[in-house]
Amino acid sequence: MTLAFREAQDVNLENVVNLWKACELTRPWNDPYKDIQFAREGATSTVLVGILDDRIVASVMVGHDGHRGVIYYLAVDPAFRKRGYGKAAVAAGETWLRERGVWKINLMVRNDNAAAGRFYERLGYEVNPVTSYGKRLDGP
Ligand SMILES: CC(C)(COP(=O)(O)OP(=O)(O)OC[C@H]1O[C@@H](n2cnc3c(N)ncnc32)[C@H](O)[C@@H]1OP(=O)(O)O)[C@@H](O)C(=O)NCCC(=O)NCCS
Repeated sequence: MTLAFREAQDVNLENVVNLWKACELTRPWNDPYKDIQFAREGATSTVLVGILDDRIVASVMVGHDGHRGVIYYLAVDPAFRKRGYGKAAVAAGETWLRERGVWKINLMVRNDNAAAGRFYERLGYEVNPVTSYGKRLDGP
């Protein structure tokens, strides 16, 4: 069986969150259910899941803001790594974005995740000479 990607459905929520947890992608200050819901409700974003033998082994969140595309929450089940599934997930995300007219992706990798950086560089991504700023809008 080959890995097939499609948009996540309601029934997949628990499995996707468990996959993210297994991949250490969740953070106490981010509610993964809220993140999935927000991405799936948006007209320009979604969560793709990679299915092998009825099992979700990979996922990727993609979207665009009308200017650039972005990839979040790229995850491959630890038991299924180094088989090309991460590359396939990024390719599925790139295809989703390309089909919506996006011609460039900007994505963030945490400074403590050098492995993900090496992975993305293997796929042709380059470090952009920019600093990423953030501010919460849900605070006091
Ligand atoms: C990063 C991750 C998605 C890679 O998944 P994967 O299925 O093992 O990757 P692939 O097998 O598709 O690898 C694709 C290429 O990247 C290389 N690669 C994968 N992981 C690598 C690593 N840690 N260091 C260097 N190269 C790596 C592979 O060797 C392969 O190279 P090749 O095409 O020349 O053979 C997976 O390790 C993961 O889920 N990590 C935890 C979550 C995470 O950090 N996500 C990214 C957040 S920014």
